[in-house]
Amino acid sequence: MKNIKAIIFDAYGTLFDVNSAAEKCKNKIGDKWEPFANFWRITQLEYTWLRSLMGRHKNFWQITEDSLDKSMKVFKIESSLKSELLNLYKVLSPFKEVQETLKILKEKNYKLAILSNGTPSLINELVKSNNLENFFDDIFSIESVGIYKPSSQVYDLPIKKYNIKKNEVAFLSSNTWDVSGGGNYGFEAIWVNRNSNIFDKLDYKPKIEIKDLSGLLNEF
Ligand code: LAC
Repeated sequence: MKNIKAIIFDAYGTLFDVNSAAEKCKNKIGDKWEPFANFWRITQLEYTWLRSLMGRHKNFWQITEDSLDKSMKVFKIESSLKSELLNLYKVLSPFKEVQETLKILKEKNYKLAILSNGTPSLINELVKSNNLENFFDDIFSIESVGIYKPSSQVYDLPIKKYNIKKNEVAFLSSNTWDVSGGGNYGFEAIWVNRNSNIFDKLDYKPKIEIKDLSGLLNEF
């Protein structure tokens, strides 16, 4: 990791715990809260890929709501919970090691940024409400190109802004498909494998796999 100039983070699932919204409603949802949360997440992602392929863009917040509607029907969850779940999605918690890791990396003078599917106002609000705003040089959202990850137009955003080479970016994601996307694009993509998952067969193998973001401190 000698040539790295910028460390760029995915947001949902990497910095912020996407399952925390459904988990906070587990008394009302019951045991199925976790399969429901996973289904909501995968449906949300499928909608980003399908909308990109169909050329029918909607922003990530609209997609989050659409995928929630479908998931609530599939899991037979009372419709009165919808607004509560959406409000909780606006205040997702960061994983516990995030703040301290960013602080140390910032002191080492790397450029730090977020590159996310997320709607700009929502990502900005999440960063601000969790007191993370001073750590990031930029928050890049796919809204400026109107197509979702893993389009190369998205991964181009920090390259164009910083005028650096693709292999001077360390890109962190817990989403295997996003690591594959960023790695195939040319980033040094690092997999944050929080849940001991299996990696993809999509033409890229990350050189570095860490359990959580604190594992970065051994590399930089
Ligand atoms: C994001 C999703 C992919 O933040 O996690 O871009």
